[in-house]
Amino acid sequence: MAKFYRPQTYQIITFGCQMNEHDSEVLAGLLESMGFYQVDKVEDSDIILLNTCCVRETAENKVFSLLGRLRRLKKEKPGMIIGVGGCMSQQEGMAARIRQGFPHVDLIFGTGKAGQIPDLIRKVMERKGPVLAVRPGSGGIAENLPVKRKEIIRAWVAIMYGCNNFCTYCIVPYVRGRERSRRPEDILDEVAGLGREGCKEVVLLGQNVNSYGKDLEGAIDFAGLLEKLDKPDGGIYRIRYMTSHPRDFTGRLIETIAASGKVCEHFHLPVQAGSNRILKKMNRGYTREGYLELIEKVKTRIPHAVITTDIMVGFPGENEDDFNDTLDIVRQARFDSSYTFIYNTRPGTPAAALEGQVPEAVKKERIQELIKLQNAISLDRNREEEGRVQEVLAEGESKTGPGLLAGRNRGNKMVVFPGGRELIGHVVRVQINEARLSHLAGRLTAQIDG
Ligand code: SAH
Ligand code: SF4
Ligand code: F3S
Repeated sequence: MAKFYRPQTYQIITFGCQMNEHDSEVLAGLLESMGFYQVDKVEDSDIILLNTCCVRETAENKVFSLLGRLRRLKKEKPGMIIGVGGCMSQQEGMAARIRQGFPHVDLIFGTGKAGQIPDLIRKVMERKGPVLAVRPGSGGIAENLPVKRKEIIRAWVAIMYGCNNFCTYCIVPYVRGRERSRRPEDILDEVAGLGREGCKEVVLLGQNVNSYGKDLEGAIDFAGLLEKLDKPDGGIYRIRYMTSHPRDFTGRLIETIAASGKVCEHFHLPVQAGSNRILKKMNRGYTREGYLELIEKVKTRIPHAVITTDIMVGFPGENEDDFNDTLDIVRQARFDSSYTFIYNTRPGTPAAALEGQVPEAVKKERIQELIKLQNAISLDRNREEEGRVQEVLAEGESKTGPGLLAGRNRGNKMVVFPGGRELIGHVVRVQINEARLSHLAGRLTAQIDG
């Protein structure tokens, strides 16, 4: 008979977006504060937490198949703890489905429940029965939780949680709850602490960062927060943010970014579709003309701005004309790059009930055509960078070859250049001499920071 033992090791397996990756850093911090240490093989883990995503079905399927594989491990090691957290567990009926299909799961916990993890783990250890902590979604904001960051050179900082936009295809507002902003003082403190630890770049995270502050007392918005963070001291060289919604991207925000020394000239503005009819059905709150006007404003004010986007094909009712409008907006906007998605029905969202679901084969054809067009434009846009000298944060050694370093320029494009390991974590200048689809190649000209 297997003997009972006190868990000592843990592993967190993360699916989904940066917000989830960052939540996992908090989970790791909490588990370490309980005395557990991290291992990287499931076989060696006494506690395995899956931090899940449900934005598309494929993300969910990965979790189900991993849970299936963990069944045997748990049989061999009954004392181990398996927990499922994150967005998937917040879905209506999902906790029951997991418990039924995967009775070896000990703990199901929702987003925003990270702060409770120590108590929940203790409960599992005491009761040896399943523990459930999901919904109601939102909850408050727990400050001062320990964070075990994967990376310190570039660090994620959550500025708000949840989403109020209810785009009709999207499940995020249902699983992440309503928008809640962190107090600016807490964000400033965290960023100052990161600067002291040697962080060079912070990425401010939120599902819709330009709604920041709407729920706070006292007049602060996202532009105001950026102004507060853009102080010449503090060690931080760069500020990025993810994700901004084109609808709320104000002229004042563009001005703030243009005037700032630290906020990078990278604009990720998910367009989703190029047809006004489809944009309306998606509840995006802008038109193609409005979107193009916005990026024109950005390009006029910041000529070397890098503009990237998310685009979806096959939203219900999308016909050939609508899809051509998407191709056309891609041509006009000349995005530096795009994340492209095939529309996927998410149960409980308004779009799931719409008529005119597009056949899979058509969706696949459309995405191929879209990717082909985007790749050609991306390469052209990258070629425009040739000859320029750019600021790059050396993040680590490049996988493309020995003696090469890799890091991002201010536009968030990957730059590869020859250099020694001692430059990792430093801000340097690189002259771009060759553009590829996936990255830029160049040569070091100077080091900027101390
Ligand atoms: N809050 C962010 C990110 C949302 S999820 C934003 O609004 O941009 C990231 C991307 O996934 C979205 O921009 C969208 O393009 C895509 N996505 C969301 N729901 C989807 C669905 N049901 N099917 C396919 N793609 C989806
Ligand atoms: Fe989803 Fe829209 Fe919110 Fe983004 S803005 S998370 S796409 S509902
Ligand atoms: Fe996925 Fe949740 Fe992020 S659904 S995309 S992990 S907010």
